[in-house]
Amino acid sequence: VKSNDNIYKYGLIKVWPSGCTFYPEYRNHAQRIRDLEVRADDVWIVTYPKCGTTWTQEMVWLLMNNLDYEKAGKILLTERSPFIEYSCLSGSEDLFQVGDTVAEVEELKSPRVVKTHLPLELLPKQLWTVKPKVRTTTYCKSLLFSQFSHIQFFLGLVAQQIIYVARGAKDVAVSYFHHHRLWNCYVGTCEDFVDAFIEGYPGYGSLWDHILEFWKIRNEPYVLFNTFEEMKKDLPNVVQRTAKFLNKSLNCQQLQKLCEHLSFDSMKNNPWVNHDDELGKIARSTVNVEERFMRKGQVGNWKSELTPQQAEKIDKWTDEKIKGTGYVLH
Ligand code: A3P
Repeated sequence: VKSNDNIYKYGLIKVWPSGCTFYPEYRNHAQRIRDLEVRADDVWIVTYPKCGTTWTQEMVWLLMNNLDYEKAGKILLTERSPFIEYSCLSGSEDLFQVGDTVAEVEELKSPRVVKTHLPLELLPKQLWTVKPKVRTTTYCKSLLFSQFSHIQFFLGLVAQQIIYVARGAKDVAVSYFHHHRLWNCYVGTCEDFVDAFIEGYPGYGSLWDHILEFWKIRNEPYVLFNTFEEMKKDLPNVVQRTAKFLNKSLNCQQLQKLCEHLSFDSMKNNPWVNHDDELGKIARSTVNVEERFMRKGQVGNWKSELTPQQAEKIDKWTDEKIKGTGYVLH
Protein backbone atom coordinates (compact mmCIF):
# COMPACT_ATOMS: atom_id res chain seq x y z
CA VAL A 1 0.00 0.00 0.00
CA LYS A 2 1.96 2.99 -1.26
CA SER A 3 -0.05 5.84 0.14
CA ASN A 4 0.37 4.83 3.74
CA ASP A 5 4.11 4.30 3.80
CA ASN A 6 4.19 7.41 5.93
CA ILE A 7 1.69 5.96 8.45
CA TYR A 8 3.83 2.95 9.24
CA LYS A 9 7.38 3.47 8.20
CA TYR A 10 7.96 -0.20 7.42
CA GLY A 11 5.18 -0.28 4.80
CA LEU A 12 1.84 -2.08 4.82
CA ILE A 13 -0.09 -4.49 2.60
CA LYS A 14 -3.76 -5.09 1.85
CA VAL A 15 -5.33 -8.38 2.88
CA TRP A 16 -8.29 -9.60 0.89
CA PRO A 17 -11.26 -10.23 0.75
CA SER A 18 -11.95 -7.28 3.05
CA GLY A 19 -8.99 -5.16 1.91
CA CYS A 20 -7.84 -4.63 5.49
CA THR A 21 -4.50 -2.79 5.71
CA PHE A 22 -1.95 -4.97 7.41
CA TYR A 23 1.67 -5.80 8.14
CA PRO A 24 3.76 -7.51 5.42
CA GLU A 25 5.07 -10.18 7.79
CA TYR A 26 1.48 -11.42 8.15
CA ARG A 27 1.98 -13.38 4.91
CA ASN A 28 4.30 -15.73 6.80
CA HIS A 29 1.81 -16.42 9.58
CA ALA A 30 -1.62 -16.13 7.97
CA GLN A 31 -2.20 -19.80 7.30
CA ARG A 32 -1.12 -20.94 10.75
CA ILE A 33 -3.44 -18.42 12.38
CA ARG A 34 -6.37 -19.39 10.16
CA ASP A 35 -5.74 -23.09 10.87
CA LEU A 36 -5.06 -22.72 14.59
CA GLU A 37 -6.70 -25.36 16.74
CA VAL A 38 -9.20 -23.57 18.90
CA ARG A 39 -9.90 -25.10 22.30
CA ALA A 40 -13.31 -25.45 23.85
CA ASP A 41 -12.39 -23.41 26.91
CA ASP A 42 -10.48 -20.59 25.17
CA VAL A 43 -11.35 -16.96 25.77
CA TRP A 44 -10.50 -14.65 22.87
CA ILE A 45 -10.17 -10.92 23.53
CA VAL A 46 -10.75 -9.20 20.22
CA THR A 47 -10.36 -5.45 19.73
CA TYR A 48 -9.21 -2.81 17.28
CA PRO A 49 -5.93 -1.41 18.71
CA LYS A 50 -6.26 1.10 21.56
CA CYS A 51 -9.77 0.15 22.64
CA GLY A 52 -8.89 -1.20 26.10
CA THR A 53 -7.31 -4.53 25.19
CA THR A 54 -4.69 -4.63 27.95
CA TRP A 55 -7.24 -3.53 30.54
CA THR A 56 -9.61 -6.31 29.49
CA GLN A 57 -6.83 -8.92 29.28
CA GLU A 58 -5.81 -8.32 32.89
CA MET A 59 -9.44 -8.47 34.03
CA VAL A 60 -10.19 -11.65 32.11
CA TRP A 61 -6.95 -13.42 33.00
CA LEU A 62 -7.62 -12.82 36.70
CA LEU A 63 -11.23 -13.97 36.39
CA MET A 64 -10.14 -17.13 34.57
CA ASN A 65 -7.37 -17.84 37.09
CA ASN A 66 -9.09 -17.66 40.46
CA LEU A 67 -7.90 -14.09 41.04
CA ASP A 68 -4.32 -15.27 41.33
CA TYR A 69 -2.66 -11.88 41.96
CA GLU A 70 0.53 -13.58 43.03
CA LYS A 71 1.01 -15.20 39.62
CA ALA A 72 -0.15 -12.00 37.88
CA GLY A 73 2.62 -10.19 39.77
CA LYS A 74 5.31 -12.60 38.61
CA ILE A 75 4.58 -13.24 34.95
CA LEU A 76 4.15 -10.62 32.25
CA LEU A 77 0.64 -10.21 30.88
CA THR A 78 2.07 -10.72 27.37
CA GLU A 79 3.09 -14.24 28.46
CA ARG A 80 -0.05 -15.02 30.42
CA SER A 81 -2.26 -13.79 27.58
CA PRO A 82 -0.28 -13.84 24.32
CA PHE A 83 -0.92 -11.54 21.37
CA ILE A 84 -1.34 -14.13 18.64
CA GLU A 85 -0.35 -12.05 15.60
CA TYR A 86 2.43 -10.10 17.33
CA SER A 87 5.01 -11.90 15.16
CA CYS A 88 3.37 -10.26 12.14
CA LEU A 89 4.34 -6.82 13.41
CA SER A 90 7.99 -7.78 13.52
CA GLY A 91 10.28 -8.60 10.61
CA SER A 92 11.92 -5.30 9.70
CA GLU A 93 15.56 -5.02 10.54
CA ASP A 94 15.41 -1.94 12.73
CA LEU A 95 12.16 -2.97 14.39
CA PHE A 96 12.42 -4.96 17.58
CA GLN A 97 12.06 -8.69 17.04
CA VAL A 98 9.38 -10.81 18.64
CA GLY A 99 9.33 -14.58 18.91
CA ASP A 100 6.81 -16.94 17.39
CA THR A 101 3.63 -15.77 19.09
CA VAL A 102 1.42 -18.25 17.21
CA ALA A 103 3.50 -21.04 18.78
CA GLU A 104 3.14 -19.34 22.18
CA VAL A 105 -0.64 -19.59 21.84
CA GLU A 106 -0.41 -23.19 20.62
CA GLU A 107 1.70 -24.13 23.62
CA LEU A 108 -0.20 -22.19 26.28
CA LYS A 109 -1.92 -24.21 29.00
CA SER A 110 -5.73 -24.12 29.12
CA PRO A 111 -7.77 -22.13 29.75
CA ARG A 112 -6.11 -19.77 27.27
CA VAL A 113 -6.82 -16.03 27.24
CA VAL A 114 -5.74 -14.93 23.77
CA LYS A 115 -5.32 -11.33 22.60
CA THR A 116 -5.93 -10.39 19.00
CA HIS A 117 -6.72 -7.30 16.95
CA LEU A 118 -7.47 -9.34 13.84
CA PRO A 119 -10.67 -8.46 12.02
CA LEU A 120 -13.38 -11.10 12.05
CA GLU A 121 -12.58 -12.69 8.70
CA LEU A 122 -8.91 -13.27 9.60
CA LEU A 123 -9.56 -15.07 12.89
CA PRO A 124 -8.99 -18.84 13.17
CA LYS A 125 -11.68 -20.70 11.22
CA GLN A 126 -12.41 -23.01 14.13
CA LEU A 127 -13.72 -20.10 16.20
CA TRP A 128 -16.89 -20.36 14.14
CA THR A 129 -17.17 -24.09 13.61
CA VAL A 130 -17.65 -24.92 17.28
CA LYS A 131 -20.56 -22.48 17.57
CA PRO A 132 -23.29 -25.11 18.04
CA LYS A 133 -21.58 -26.34 21.18
CA VAL A 134 -22.13 -22.91 22.71
CA ARG A 135 -25.85 -23.25 22.30
CA THR A 136 -25.69 -26.57 24.15
CA THR A 137 -23.70 -24.91 26.88
CA THR A 138 -26.09 -22.02 27.19
CA TYR A 139 -29.00 -24.38 27.38
CA CYS A 140 -27.33 -26.55 30.01
CA LYS A 141 -26.23 -23.49 31.93
CA SER A 142 -29.77 -22.32 32.25
CA LEU A 143 -30.96 -25.77 33.23
CA LEU A 144 -28.53 -27.07 35.74
CA PHE A 145 -24.93 -26.15 35.84
CA SER A 146 -24.75 -22.40 36.17
CA GLN A 147 -22.32 -22.58 39.10
CA PHE A 148 -20.28 -25.53 37.89
CA SER A 149 -18.15 -24.58 34.95
CA HIS A 150 -15.77 -27.47 35.69
CA ILE A 151 -18.60 -29.99 35.25
CA GLN A 152 -19.41 -28.46 31.89
CA PHE A 153 -15.76 -28.64 31.01
CA PHE A 154 -15.50 -32.34 31.79
CA LEU A 155 -18.66 -32.96 29.83
CA GLY A 156 -17.01 -31.14 26.93
CA LEU A 157 -19.81 -28.62 26.77
CA VAL A 158 -17.93 -25.38 27.15
CA ALA A 159 -17.20 -23.60 23.90
CA GLN A 160 -14.70 -20.84 23.35
CA GLN A 161 -15.86 -17.34 24.04
CA ILE A 162 -15.15 -13.99 22.43
CA ILE A 163 -14.97 -10.77 24.41
CA TYR A 164 -15.02 -7.77 22.08
CA VAL A 165 -14.17 -4.24 23.25
CA ALA A 166 -15.03 -1.11 21.28
CA ARG A 167 -14.10 2.54 21.91
CA GLY A 168 -15.14 5.94 20.53
CA ALA A 169 -13.39 6.78 17.26
CA LYS A 170 -11.92 10.15 18.26
CA ASP A 171 -10.22 8.74 21.35
CA VAL A 172 -8.97 5.72 19.38
CA ALA A 173 -7.50 8.02 16.70
CA VAL A 174 -5.58 10.03 19.29
CA SER A 175 -4.46 6.99 21.24
CA TYR A 176 -3.36 5.16 18.04
CA PHE A 177 -1.45 8.23 16.87
CA HIS A 178 0.49 8.32 20.15
CA HIS A 179 0.96 4.56 20.00
CA HIS A 180 2.66 4.86 16.60
CA ARG A 181 5.00 7.48 17.96
CA LEU A 182 5.66 5.43 21.06
CA TRP A 183 6.61 2.41 18.98
CA ASN A 184 8.73 4.71 16.86
CA CYS A 185 7.08 3.74 13.59
CA TYR A 186 5.46 7.04 12.56
CA VAL A 187 7.00 10.46 12.12
CA GLY A 188 4.09 12.37 10.56
CA THR A 189 1.66 14.88 11.98
CA CYS A 190 -1.53 14.18 13.91
CA GLU A 191 -3.49 15.76 11.05
CA ASP A 192 -2.11 13.31 8.47
CA PHE A 193 -2.67 10.46 10.86
CA VAL A 194 -6.34 11.38 11.37
CA ASP A 195 -6.92 11.48 7.59
CA ALA A 196 -5.25 8.10 7.13
CA PHE A 197 -7.20 6.69 10.09
CA ILE A 198 -10.50 7.69 8.48
CA GLU A 199 -9.39 6.18 5.18
CA GLY A 200 -8.61 2.90 6.97
CA TYR A 201 -4.87 3.07 6.33
CA PRO A 202 -3.24 2.23 9.68
CA GLY A 203 -2.52 -1.41 10.51
CA TYR A 204 -5.83 -3.30 11.02
CA GLY A 205 -7.66 -1.05 8.59
CA SER A 206 -10.85 0.80 9.41
CA LEU A 207 -11.95 1.05 13.03
CA TRP A 208 -15.63 1.05 12.12
CA ASP A 209 -15.40 -1.91 9.76
CA HIS A 210 -13.74 -3.81 12.59
CA ILE A 211 -16.27 -2.85 15.27
CA LEU A 212 -19.36 -3.31 13.15
CA GLU A 213 -18.49 -6.87 12.15
CA PHE A 214 -18.62 -7.83 15.82
CA TRP A 215 -21.57 -5.58 16.54
CA LYS A 216 -23.54 -7.73 14.09
CA ILE A 217 -22.89 -10.87 16.17
CA ARG A 218 -23.10 -9.17 19.59
CA ASN A 219 -26.18 -11.13 20.64
CA GLU A 220 -24.70 -14.55 19.95
CA PRO A 221 -24.32 -16.44 23.23
CA TYR A 222 -20.57 -16.84 22.71
CA VAL A 223 -19.95 -13.07 22.31
CA LEU A 224 -19.71 -10.39 24.97
CA PHE A 225 -19.59 -6.85 23.60
CA ASN A 226 -18.06 -4.31 26.03
CA THR A 227 -16.91 -0.74 25.53
CA PHE A 228 -14.05 1.31 26.96
CA GLU A 229 -16.56 3.98 27.93
CA GLU A 230 -18.66 1.54 29.97
CA MET A 231 -15.51 0.36 31.73
CA LYS A 232 -14.64 3.94 32.63
CA LYS A 233 -18.17 4.79 33.74
CA ASP A 234 -18.89 1.73 35.83
CA LEU A 235 -16.03 -0.76 36.06
CA PRO A 236 -17.67 -2.95 38.76
CA ASN A 237 -20.67 -3.43 36.50
CA VAL A 238 -18.53 -4.47 33.52
CA VAL A 239 -16.43 -6.77 35.71
CA GLN A 240 -19.63 -8.44 37.03
CA ARG A 241 -21.07 -8.77 33.52
CA THR A 242 -17.81 -10.27 32.25
CA ALA A 243 -17.58 -12.64 35.21
CA LYS A 244 -21.13 -13.82 34.56
CA PHE A 245 -20.33 -14.37 30.89
CA LEU A 246 -17.34 -16.48 31.93
CA ASN A 247 -19.47 -18.32 34.45
CA LYS A 248 -17.50 -17.00 37.42
CA SER A 249 -18.80 -15.35 40.55
CA LEU A 250 -17.25 -12.71 42.77
CA ASN A 251 -18.17 -11.56 46.26
CA CYS A 252 -18.13 -7.86 47.21
CA GLN A 253 -14.56 -7.88 48.56
CA GLN A 254 -13.24 -9.73 45.54
CA LEU A 255 -14.99 -7.30 43.21
CA GLN A 256 -13.64 -4.28 45.06
CA LYS A 257 -10.08 -5.63 45.09
CA LEU A 258 -10.22 -6.48 41.39
CA CYS A 259 -11.52 -3.00 40.48
CA GLU A 260 -8.74 -1.39 42.51
CA HIS A 261 -6.19 -3.59 40.75
CA LEU A 262 -7.67 -2.58 37.38
CA SER A 263 -7.73 1.16 38.11
CA PHE A 264 -5.68 3.31 35.74
CA ASP A 265 -3.21 4.43 38.44
CA SER A 266 -2.63 0.89 39.55
CA MET A 267 -2.15 -0.49 36.03
CA LYS A 268 0.04 2.43 35.02
CA ASN A 269 2.45 1.54 37.81
CA ASN A 270 2.21 -2.21 37.32
CA PRO A 271 5.30 -3.38 35.39
CA TRP A 272 3.63 -6.74 34.62
CA VAL A 273 1.01 -5.08 32.42
CA ASN A 274 2.26 -1.63 31.38
CA HIS A 275 4.51 -2.80 28.49
CA ASP A 276 7.59 -0.97 29.86
CA ASP A 277 9.64 -4.10 29.20
CA GLU A 278 8.80 -4.12 25.46
CA LEU A 279 9.27 -0.39 25.09
CA GLY A 280 12.68 -0.67 26.65
CA LYS A 281 13.72 -2.74 23.61
CA ILE A 282 12.75 -0.05 21.12
CA ALA A 283 15.24 2.55 19.99
CA ARG A 284 13.32 5.51 21.37
CA SER A 285 13.68 8.80 19.55
CA THR A 286 13.68 12.18 21.28
CA VAL A 287 10.11 12.69 20.03
CA ASN A 288 8.65 9.78 21.87
CA VAL A 289 10.79 9.52 24.93
CA GLU A 290 8.07 11.11 27.08
CA GLU A 291 5.33 8.82 25.83
CA ARG A 292 4.05 5.85 27.85
CA PHE A 293 1.75 2.97 26.92
CA MET A 294 -0.56 3.82 29.84
CA ARG A 295 -1.01 7.33 28.58
CA LYS A 296 -4.17 9.12 29.78
CA GLY A 297 -6.77 6.41 30.23
CA GLN A 298 -9.63 8.86 29.74
CA VAL A 299 -12.84 9.20 27.79
CA GLY A 300 -12.77 12.44 25.78
CA ASN A 301 -9.01 13.00 25.79
CA TRP A 302 -9.44 13.85 22.08
CA LYS A 303 -10.78 17.25 23.17
CA SER A 304 -7.30 18.42 24.08
CA GLU A 305 -5.60 16.86 21.05
CA LEU A 306 -7.82 17.25 17.98
CA THR A 307 -8.82 20.46 16.23
CA PRO A 308 -12.59 21.06 15.83
CA GLN A 309 -12.17 20.28 12.11
CA GLN A 310 -10.47 16.94 12.76
CA ALA A 311 -13.13 16.02 15.33
CA GLU A 312 -15.87 16.95 12.89
CA LYS A 313 -14.31 14.81 10.14
CA ILE A 314 -14.25 11.79 12.44
CA ASP A 315 -17.83 12.44 13.58
CA LYS A 316 -19.07 12.68 10.00
CA TRP A 317 -17.30 9.45 9.07
CA THR A 318 -18.71 7.75 12.19
CA ASP A 319 -22.26 8.86 11.36
CA GLU A 320 -21.94 7.51 7.82
CA LYS A 321 -20.55 4.20 9.01
CA ILE A 322 -23.04 3.48 11.81
CA LYS A 323 -26.11 4.68 9.95
CA GLY A 324 -28.71 1.88 9.93
CA THR A 325 -26.64 -0.47 12.09
CA GLY A 326 -28.31 0.34 15.40
CA TYR A 327 -24.88 0.98 16.92
CA VAL A 328 -25.19 3.00 20.10
CA LEU A 329 -22.44 5.58 20.68
CA HIS A 330 -21.32 5.85 24.31
P1 A3P B 1 -4.96 6.26 25.98
O1 A3P B 1 -3.87 6.23 24.96
O2 A3P B 1 -6.15 7.05 25.55
O3 A3P B 1 -4.48 6.69 27.34
P2 A3P B 1 -4.96 -1.04 24.27
O4 A3P B 1 -4.60 -1.84 25.47
O5 A3P B 1 -6.11 -1.57 23.51
O6 A3P B 1 -3.76 -0.73 23.43
O7 A3P B 1 -5.51 0.36 24.81
C1 A3P B 1 -4.65 1.31 25.38
C2 A3P B 1 -5.49 2.42 25.93
O8 A3P B 1 -6.16 1.96 27.11
C3 A3P B 1 -4.64 3.61 26.35
O9 A3P B 1 -5.48 4.75 26.16
C4 A3P B 1 -4.41 3.29 27.83
O10 A3P B 1 -4.02 4.41 28.59
C5 A3P B 1 -5.79 2.79 28.21
N1 A3P B 1 -5.82 1.99 29.43
C6 A3P B 1 -5.10 0.89 29.72
N2 A3P B 1 -5.38 0.45 30.97
C7 A3P B 1 -6.31 1.28 31.46
C8 A3P B 1 -7.01 1.38 32.73
N3 A3P B 1 -6.77 0.53 33.69
N4 A3P B 1 -7.90 2.38 32.88
C9 A3P B 1 -8.14 3.27 31.88
N5 A3P B 1 -7.51 3.24 30.68
C10 A3P B 1 -6.61 2.26 30.48
